[in-house]
Amino acid sequence: MNKTAKFIFNGKTYELPVVMGSEGEMAVDISNLRKETRFITFDPGYANTGSCQSSITFMDGENGILRYRGIPIEQLAEHSTFVETAYLLINGELPTEKELNNFSVMLNDHSLVHEDMHLFFENFPRRAHPMGILSSMVNALRAFYPEIPERTDEEEINITFTRLLSKIRTMAAMSHKMSLGHKVIYPRYALHYCANFLNMMFDSPVRPYTIDDDLVKALEVFWILHADHEQNCSTAAVRLVGSARVNLYAAISAGIAALWGPLHGGANQAVVEMLQQIHNNGGDPAPFIARAKDRNDPFRLMGFGHSIYKTYDPRARIMEKTCHKILKKLNRHDPLLDIARQLEEFALKDSYFKDHDLYPNVDFYSGIVLRAIGIPLNMFTVMFAIGRLPGWISQWKESIDDPKWKLHRPRQIYIGRKKRDYVPINDR
Ligand code: CMC
Repeated sequence: MNKTAKFIFNGKTYELPVVMGSEGEMAVDISNLRKETRFITFDPGYANTGSCQSSITFMDGENGILRYRGIPIEQLAEHSTFVETAYLLINGELPTEKELNNFSVMLNDHSLVHEDMHLFFENFPRRAHPMGILSSMVNALRAFYPEIPERTDEEEINITFTRLLSKIRTMAAMSHKMSLGHKVIYPRYALHYCANFLNMMFDSPVRPYTIDDDLVKALEVFWILHADHEQNCSTAAVRLVGSARVNLYAAISAGIAALWGPLHGGANQAVVEMLQQIHNNGGDPAPFIARAKDRNDPFRLMGFGHSIYKTYDPRARIMEKTCHKILKKLNRHDPLLDIARQLEEFALKDSYFKDHDLYPNVDFYSGIVLRAIGIPLNMFTVMFAIGRLPGWISQWKESIDDPKWKLHRPRQIYIGRKKRDYVPINDR
C-alpha cells in the first residue's frame, strides 16, 4: 500500500506521498506542494532535501557506511583499482576482464591533450592555483573536443567520459610541471592509470622516476575513497549546472570550482597547513582545540566534522591505515602524523567534539598520504578532483537519463523591501 504523510494547515489536510529508498530512507514527496497549497519548504543548505533518486552511492552517516553500487568501500579499497571502480560507478556493474581491458586501452588512447592547449598553460601566472587552472582547462576541452552529439550514441558518450578521465590526469600533471618551469612529461602507453600519473608528475630528463608499487597502491586507495560521495557540494553543482543541459565539460568544470573550497575538497590542503602550524608552534594541539571550541573564533579543526557522517568517516579509517603502511614502507617518520594522532585523541575525548558529533573525516589523514607520495601541497585538492571525476560523470549521466529530469530551480523566501518608488538621484 502506498504510504502518505499529512500536512495540515488552517484545518485543511493535504496528503503527501512517501518515497522509500532501497535501504529504508524515507522522504516526503513535496513536488506538488506549492501547486496544491501555495506553500514551499524552507531548508537552507538543502540538508533535508532529496534533490534526486540515485542508484550510485549509498551513505549511512549514523553508522559510518559508504557503498558504491552496493559494494562496501572497504572491499573496493582492498581489492579494486581506481580504473575498475570508475567503471563500476559509471556503468553500474564491475567490468569483465575484457571490458576492463578495453576501458584501460581507451584511457591510454585518449591520454594526450591537444598540443595547442600547452599555450593556455603557458599563459597562466606561475603561481596560479592548480584548481583554478584545472577548472578552466576542463572547460576549455569543449573547444578542442566535440561534446556528446547525441545522447543516444552510447559509443560517443563513452569516448567523452574516457577522454575526460584520461586527460584530467594529464592536465593535472602538466600544470604541476609547468608551475615549476619544467619539461612536461607525456603519458606512456605501457603504464596503467595511477603509475602513469605518478610518472608524469615526477619523471624528469635528468632524474628518471622509479615506480614503486606500494605508492601506486596508496594512490589507488586514495582515489577509490574519493570516487563518489552522493549529493555533496561539488556533485550537486555538477547536477545543477548540468540540469541546464550545458555540455559535460562545463558541468565538470563547475564541480571542480565547488570542490576548491576549504570546507569541501580544499580541506585536505587546509589540514596539512593546520598540522604544520601546530608543529611550527611547538607541537601542542591544545591551543588549537581551544580555538576550535571558541564560538567567537571562526577557526575550525580542519579534517573534523561532516555534514552527513555523525560518526567516524569510514574513509578516514582506511586512509589512516594507508598512512601507516606507506610511511613504514618508506621507512619515514612524519611528525605531522604524530600531531594528527594526538589531535584526534584529544578531540575524541573532548565533550565539545562528542556533543557536536565531530570525528575525523577523509581529509584528516589523506594529506599525510599525499605528502608521502611526494604530491606538493597546492596539488592536494587537484588529487581529490581527479578522484571525484568518476562520481561526477556517473551522477551527470544518471541525471541526464532520468525521465523525471527537471531544470534545477529552487525557490526562496523573499525578505527584502516591499514595493516602493524609484527616487531620482537629486532627491536622494
Ligand atoms: N571544528 C569545530 N567546530 C565545528 C567543526 C570543526 N571542524 N565542524 C563543525 N563544528 C561545529 C560548528 O561550529 C557548529 O557549532 P554550533 O552548533 O555550536 O554553532 C556545529 O559544529 C555544526 O556546524 P555546521 O557547519 O552547521 O555543520 P555541518 O555538518 O554543516 O558542517 C563541515 C560540516 C564539513 C562543513 C564542518 O564540519 C567543517 O567545517 N569541518 C571542517 C572542514 C572540513 O574538514 N571539511 C571536509 C569535509 S569532508 C570532505 C568532503 O566530503 O568534502
